[in-house]
Amino acid sequence: KKVAVLVSGNGSNLQALLDTTREAAQCMCADINLVISNKKDAYALQRAQKAGVPSLVFNHKDYASREDFDRAVSEALEAHKIDIVCLAGYMRILSAEFVKKWHGRLLNIHPSLLPRHPGLNAQKQCLDAGDKESGCTVHFVDEGMDTGAIILQERVPVLQKDTVETLTDRIHEAEHRAYPRALRLVTTGRVRLNQHGTLMWYS
Ligand code: GRF
Repeated sequence: KKVAVLVSGNGSNLQALLDTTREAAQCMCADINLVISNKKDAYALQRAQKAGVPSLVFNHKDYASREDFDRAVSEALEAHKIDIVCLAGYMRILSAEFVKKWHGRLLNIHPSLLPRHPGLNAQKQCLDAGDKESGCTVHFVDEGMDTGAIILQERVPVLQKDTVETLTDRIHEAEHRAYPRALRLVTTGRVRLNQHGTLMWYS
């Protein structure tokens, strides 16, 4: 399967996906064929370049509306014959049209155990709530904010002395294991989303 990764920042999850999809032993059935960023300075773009993966930058200022922007991204994905799109620190709200078009082929990773702490600053939300555990969630994307069907989660403990930074680091390590595992479930056909947005498992 041809995979594109959409990024806005550091891209450590992109790196984890690049590394695992290139390890023959991982049997990922996935090739990262394209990286798209909405920020021209995103460090993720350097990671793509180093890995020899083509990348594109889309600037929202070049488009009249969110729909126009997303349509341009969609066209690029189609031009590259992309099967599956992974959001990895992509800091843009997607239009309903985009989400619908990529239904069942659009994944996101979020730094909390959803449905707890959707949206921004999930790690701070977790610490403020006094939670004893946190983690990450890989899910299919639907029209809501971090509400789509959950593919898998990985838990990490929250320690008493944790700051947003230390908790973020611990969650990141879990993310770098979880995202490749979840992508593999999708690319190998183990898990699929039906048209009602329900997760279906296949053996
Ligand atoms: C991750 O924590 C991810 O869960 C969230 O954005 C962060 C991206 O980190 N959606 P990176 O750019 O992959 O390092």
